[in-house]
Amino acid sequence: MVQKETADRLVKRALEARENAYAPYSRFRVGAALLAESGSVHTGCNIENAAYGPSNCAERTAFFKAVSEGERSFQAIAVVGAGETDQGQYTAPCGVCRQVMAEFCDPETFDVIMANLAGEYCVKTLGELLPDSFGAADLK
Ligand code: THU
Repeated sequence: MVQKETADRLVKRALEARENAYAPYSRFRVGAALLAESGSVHTGCNIENAAYGPSNCAERTAFFKAVSEGERSFQAIAVVGAGETDQGQYTAPCGVCRQVMAEFCDPETFDVIMANLAGEYCVKTLGELLPDSFGAADLK
């Protein structure tokens, strides 16, 4: 399980990344901060589109940025999402983002830190969020 200091640091970075969210359609702004095994942190926000379909979640923005910079293994991700009438809830990653996480992360050890605007959070492993996932091993 990710240490409290590390989780707090990632949540802070996710809150900062949320400031850059481009969400004029849903008004639901999301930020993410992804910790690589190397120790580097890669942030992301949701980026919506007038055609809706091309929209990208904060988590995938962070993963695609990191992978495109050469990172391949990861320890944890913090996610903070909130709309305009937020009640302090935690935002869980969507199914597509969970599948992207499964491509690069160990389901037993990768921690998903789901936080609210106050910086409170809960943590679940990827395996808890996406059991029995389809992956590279299924294609052998
Ligand atoms: N969204 C994320 O960025 N991450 C999540 O974990 C849930 C949903 C985005 C997608 C869309 O831009 C907006 O939040 C509303 O669904």
